[in-house]
Amino acid sequence: MTWSVRNPSAHDGFAAASFLIFLVLLALLLFAPPDGIEHAPLLQFVGRFHPLSVHFPIAVLLLVPLFEILGRKRDSPFLLASVDLLLCVAICGAIVAAVLGWCLARGGGYSGPLVQQHMWGGVLVAVAAWLCWLQRLRAGSLGPARLYAIMLVGTVTLVSFTGYRGGQLSHGANHLTQFMPQQLRRLLEVSGSRHGAMNSADESLATFYGARIQPLFEGHCVTCHGPAKHKANLRLDTYAAVMRGSKHGPVIKAGDPKGSELFHRITLPPDDDDFMPAANRRPLSSSDVKLIEAWISSGASHTLAVDATAVVTAGQTIVAEVNFQEIDANAVAKERAAFAPILSQVQSRLPNVVGYQSRTSADLVLSASWLGAKFGDNEIVVLAPLSERIVAADFSGTAITDRSAPVLAAMKKLRQLRLAHTAISDATILELGSLDRLESLSVFDTGVSASSLSLFARLSKLQHVYAGQTRIAANTVIPPQLNGKLVF
Ligand code: HEC
Repeated sequence: MTWSVRNPSAHDGFAAASFLIFLVLLALLLFAPPDGIEHAPLLQFVGRFHPLSVHFPIAVLLLVPLFEILGRKRDSPFLLASVDLLLCVAICGAIVAAVLGWCLARGGGYSGPLVQQHMWGGVLVAVAAWLCWLQRLRAGSLGPARLYAIMLVGTVTLVSFTGYRGGQLSHGANHLTQFMPQQLRRLLEVSGSRHGAMNSADESLATFYGARIQPLFEGHCVTCHGPAKHKANLRLDTYAAVMRGSKHGPVIKAGDPKGSELFHRITLPPDDDDFMPAANRRPLSSSDVKLIEAWISSGASHTLAVDATAVVTAGQTIVAEVNFQEIDANAVAKERAAFAPILSQVQSRLPNVVGYQSRTSADLVLSASWLGAKFGDNEIVVLAPLSERIVAADFSGTAITDRSAPVLAAMKKLRQLRLAHTAISDATILELGSLDRLESLSVFDTGVSASSLSLFARLSKLQHVYAGQTRIAANTVIPPQLNGKLVF
């Protein structure tokens, strides 16, 4: 039991060997990090043992503080004498788990901040355990131990952090709160709900895709096809990614569900190897599958309005939410005919950016945000001939600048305008005085400053201005017309 006293050279050897292994591990993680590409299948095979191996060092590490405390309190020196061995086992176990974790991440197509944090957390746990062990040797098992105690607490905290990140990787970012009872949720002011869309904040809830389809992918697919893992190099966390497809090409064929790999995968028998979601995850319900079918057969649009959907598939009507307004179908058809050629021209130059607001309307909605930086001042000009028809427009995250202001100003029927995460500034707002129907405006994360406040106040219909992360300080004096309308 007194290994530490009798055999100092064994200690030196162990210290040196683990130090060398840390260096090798560091080089591995720095020069061959998980890069979202699936590497050799053998790596994946070995890596799959990571979840199994990872709990042993955790258990052993948690015993260390327990033995230290009980060993002193209960006068049980044999507990104190085994701590040295426990720490050595924990260090070895943590190293093995870290190497297997690297195999899994590198082989399994993982990438992104979650996996990075989990990975470095794991390596730090091994290093922290090693440092604890060295410190304990230095101070002697009964010596003054304040620094050692602090290091132990730090190590246990690190274990918890790393475990939490690991849980997020395999069960989704909100796995701890997803099934939290409502009462507790309210008490702790945790937002979100198990039914709601989790990460689809960027998707407009006014579109069929944003309100109906993206939440299904969020709930069933993004743990494997999302920011942290891209199985088959496929991501399903944004519209652009869904349409981009996998390493084998597109998985959606607009208008043709049966010809779409994604639809094929979700309609296989659940025991088929290729069935999605894989690994016995909760399958989509049959009505979810029908929604996806309806969405693909109606053209897999990004702009189709949420209430536009009595979409017909195989002679069967799938109803999401249909607005039965009193409408004059002939009038709508006439109105549409007047600009149909221009619309189809624009649609062929910028596919999936503009569409009708609903089946029963000749108004247009526009969503360019999914194109990101590929949409800018030169592209917006293409839309100019349709300006007067557009009632909702989303340019969030695109490359438009103040040079686009005249095109925006010409969209006189706009009720909703999103300019979040763009380079626009007060100069754009100055030109928007003509938008007298605008109800909702987002300038979140833009260069807009307090001098735009009086300009917002001119817009009589405006109900909400989303102005977080702008140059408008939260304590700015707000014109009375904007009271309660400014959201930070
Ligand atoms: C537990 C992890 C996991 C979940 C959850 C999951 N997938 Fe997959 N998916 C995989 C893996 C692994 C592959 C690659 C192996 C294969 O092709 O079967 C894959 C491949 C695919 C492919 C084939 C891509 C190609 O062209 O090769 C599609 C399409 C797909 N998944 C769609 C989905 C959809 C839709 C969902 C949600 C309903 C989903 N997946 C949920 C793990 C998962």
